[in-house]
Amino acid sequence: MSTTTLKVGDAIELSKELEDNSINVTVTSPPYNKAKIGSPKNSLDKKYIPGVSSNGIFKKIEYDSFDDSLPEEEYQQKQIELLNIIHTKTVEGGSFFYNHKIRYNKGHSITPWEWLLKTKWHIREEIIWARGGGVEISGFRFIQNDERIYWLCKGPKHPKLPRACANLGSVWKFGADMKNDHPAPYPLRLPVRCVEAVLPSPGVVLDPYNGSGTTGVAAKLLGHNYIGFDLSENYLEKARDRITNISLHDLKKFRESSMLGNSGSGEVTLENFF
Ligand SMILES: C[S@@+](CC[C@H](N)C(=O)[O-])C[C@H]1O[C@@H](n2cnc3c(N)ncnc32)[C@H](O)[C@@H]1O
Repeated sequence: MSTTTLKVGDAIELSKELEDNSINVTVTSPPYNKAKIGSPKNSLDKKYIPGVSSNGIFKKIEYDSFDDSLPEEEYQQKQIELLNIIHTKTVEGGSFFYNHKIRYNKGHSITPWEWLLKTKWHIREEIIWARGGGVEISGFRFIQNDERIYWLCKGPKHPKLPRACANLGSVWKFGADMKNDHPAPYPLRLPVRCVEAVLPSPGVVLDPYNGSGTTGVAAKLLGHNYIGFDLSENYLEKARDRITNISLHDLKKFRESSMLGNSGSGEVTLENFF
């Protein structure tokens, strides 16, 4: 039976406590550090639209326990530190799927390559997640309707992908999950694809930015142990419930997502619902 361990606290500090060489796969989406709003909510700035910057470029995400707005250099340093700690905690040949996006600041783009190249990870592939949607009300640029998923490997050896997974290609087209009330979740399809592609037998999956626990649901349904961290006790409580009591919605999404015909860990099946 798979286990789920959820801890409240800072991703960097909690990751340091993990055993070296104990994690098989990490899938995560950090906060993007894009709270470049022009004005506070009660602003008299007529151009201000809640959730969007006064220049219409950045969509602010309102998290419940922190403000997503570090100075960019500090943000990147912290990301590098976390990535390197998790590198030490990952088994040789293990993987890290790092979901991020290209951001814009003062008229130029900031790509995650800037800090990923400063980590110990081998960058195996950049996957484009064509997620649709997107906000860009000013005409400053073409609407950004993609995010990126960087497949990072520990060491030059890496798992050989099953043919059905490799055939997915490097542009993944699927939308967000509209039924999740967390402010910035990814859809279940994303961690299911990542974990299933590289972890054929039971192992340990980590998400240091657990959020609503989407990675945990994928890990559990694929039969792996899961470790998740988040600053927000509130998000973790909801995630605990979501992972413990897998919903019919998640199970259906999982079945649609699995490329290898996985139908659940055996502990949770569609038949449980009927
Ligand atoms: C983009 S969301 C992750 C969403 C998740 N992938 C999901 O599907 O629900 C980022 C999460 O990181 C958490 N967070 C932000 N800073 C953190 C930190 N320093 N340590 C741990 N968690 C943090 C936020 O509370 C938020 O839930």
